[in-house]
Amino acid sequence: MRKSLRRTLLLWLLVPLLLLFSLGTVMVYQLALNYSEDAYDRALHDSASDILFLAKESFKNKGRIELPHSVHEILLADQYDKTYFSILDKHGKLLAGDGRLSVPVIDSDDEDGTAYYDDVINDEEIRVIATEFNMTEDGQQHTWRILVGETRNKRDGLARDILTGFVVPQAIIILLAAGLVVLGVRRGLAPLEELRESLTHRSHNDMRPLNTPNVPVEVQPLMREINGLLVRLESVFEAQKRFIADAAHQLRTPLAGLTAQTDLARAQDNPPQTQHALDQIKIVSTRLNHAVSQLLSLARNEPGADKSLNLQALDLNEFGRIATLEWIEQAIERNIDLGFDAPSTPSIITADAMRLRELLDNLIDNALRYCPPGSRVTVRIGNGPTLCVEDTGPGIPEEERTRIFDRFHRLLGTDTDGNGLGLAIVKEIADLHGAVVEVEAAAGGRGALFRVRFPAARSPTPRFPA
Ligand SMILES: Nc1ncnc2c1ncn2[C@@H]1O[C@H](COP(=O)(O)OP(=O)(O)OP(=O)(O)O)[C@@H](O)[C@H]1O
Ligand SMILES: [Mg+2]
Repeated sequence: MRKSLRRTLLLWLLVPLLLLFSLGTVMVYQLALNYSEDAYDRALHDSASDILFLAKESFKNKGRIELPHSVHEILLADQYDKTYFSILDKHGKLLAGDGRLSVPVIDSDDEDGTAYYDDVINDEEIRVIATEFNMTEDGQQHTWRILVGETRNKRDGLARDILTGFVVPQAIIILLAAGLVVLGVRRGLAPLEELRESLTHRSHNDMRPLNTPNVPVEVQPLMREINGLLVRLESVFEAQKRFIADAAHQLRTPLAGLTAQTDLARAQDNPPQTQHALDQIKIVSTRLNHAVSQLLSLARNEPGADKSLNLQALDLNEFGRIATLEWIEQAIERNIDLGFDAPSTPSIITADAMRLRELLDNLIDNALRYCPPGSRVTVRIGNGPTLCVEDTGPGIPEEERTRIFDRFHRLLGTDTDGNGLGLAIVKEIADLHGAVVEVEAAAGGRGALFRVRFPAARSPTPRFPA
């Protein structure tokens, strides 16, 4: 699994925090229980001492142990717990009490012969104190064992109170602390998230340095390195762009000369072989001309070219009609039915007419080029406004629909000439105009539909004045 800074931080903060908090809570809870148990044990011890006192008095006065009936009501009275007591002699014979408590084995090392232990009567847990007492009366040695027990209702009640009064708030504090840790980690990592966002939404042509003001000092060196890399990449891209533009430009004039000379030579009366060679030269030079124009167009419309845009308001209907008309001849040559369709009201957009023409020419050129004879191609202006070129040709497979806009990308099996630059140019020009290009299957599922959606022209007055 990939290492995640957030996961590592949360793991190292939350797990120890929760462990320590839980350990602390258990320890404090246990300590509180012990103290309360001690306090109740001391009260039990006091009851045993009182009973012993009464027993001694009775033995001194009457020579036997006879405790008043009120012992239960006075000494052992308790509204929460049942109490039991027994006084036994050293042989275990019951001298007084109910005799229901089981007799413990008291270790003679026990401090003052007292022991606490747990017993069960009628399925109820009982806490018992057993204490031993020696007395010499009339030269005779008497050993008594006094057992006093009570049910655990008070103790359990207190344990419950401690649980709700201490552990529950503690658990809430733990949860709050965990929540704060999560929040803190998220806040701490937010600048990184911001940095990632700014990189994610960045166009591949945007080489401006990263400028995320909230980046923490720890990340700044990384950002500086990325910015340094961007600067180096930009200079390489710039050099590449300049090279393509210059090379295309340099090629244009000699190519135009070559084409003109070939046309001149072809117009002469030539032997058939020379004529054939000249026809071939004409085909190749036309192809070369097209490639060079595409390269120049690509360089001209590269991102950042918006400064050289010559924007003006134009009616897409009129513009599309004129551009389509100029392709009629080629369409007839290829036996393709080229049509034009526009709404009756003008579709005004703000655009650079020359570049928009390059865009439309590329779309029509493709449609005429890749559709077999007998197909239909329609240039359609729609609401939005949109500019569509729809054909009944082979169409674009769904998995290729984003890739065909990449430079030099052509569909496999395309045997028609081309450089794979037309749609890259279309996309660049659309981007420069803030327009979006989409491709889908044409109506009826066959053929391709290229749609350019322009941003709605901002009208100077609101459409529905208040
Ligand atoms: N209307 C269409 N119908 C079918 N396939 C098309 C259509 N338009 C484009 N394509 C496919 O998309 C590929 C890319 O088109 P693009 O215009 O970018 O390059 P190209 O036409 O090959 O070369 P260039 O336009 O630079 O001369 C084409 O090679 C073709 O396979
Ligand atoms: Mg093309």
